[in-house]
Amino acid sequence: MSNRKLGKVYAGAFIVAGAIGLAGCEGASDRAVSYAEDVQPILAEHCLECHRPGAEGYAKSGFGVESYAATMKGTNFGPVVIGGDSIGSTLVVLIEGRAHSSIQMPHGQQRMPEEQIETVKRWVDQGAMDN
Ligand code: HEC
Repeated sequence: MSNRKLGKVYAGAFIVAGAIGLAGCEGASDRAVSYAEDVQPILAEHCLECHRPGAEGYAKSGFGVESYAATMKGTNFGPVVIGGDSIGSTLVVLIEGRAHSSIQMPHGQQRMPEEQIETVKRWVDQGAMDN
């Protein structure tokens, strides 16, 4: 093999190793959470049946999750998602069951899987963006 070819092989190996290294460092906790790909499907699975125009939760609170805009608008009383503040966001308070158990969300149903709660929290802490 000529030196030039060898150089190319090394360069290629370097790039591959670099990519693997990066992927390895990217822990689950600092991965960027996407609203469209990660959060919206979770809200659709656990919240949408009640929180869309015409459904019970929407009628009682004004809160809908049928779109990003609706989710960010919040209830009749104001926002339930504060970008960067999962501790102070009502939506997170409710799905974590930090409020009274009678208003834990999903309402009258089982708590969401921890992994999904974590995903929503990370999305809020990363700024609750429409990404
Ligand atoms: C089975 C129906 C149902 C499901 C599923 C449901 N909710 Fe609700 N939700 C309600 C009802 C009913 C209310 C009004 C509660 C009340 O005022 O007593 C409510 C109220 C709320 C409120 C307003 C609370 C407040 O303090 O005003 C938020 C925020 C909320 N839900 C978020 C969610 C989220 C997030 C999910 C999914 C994880 C969810 N809900 C799933 C029925 C539901």
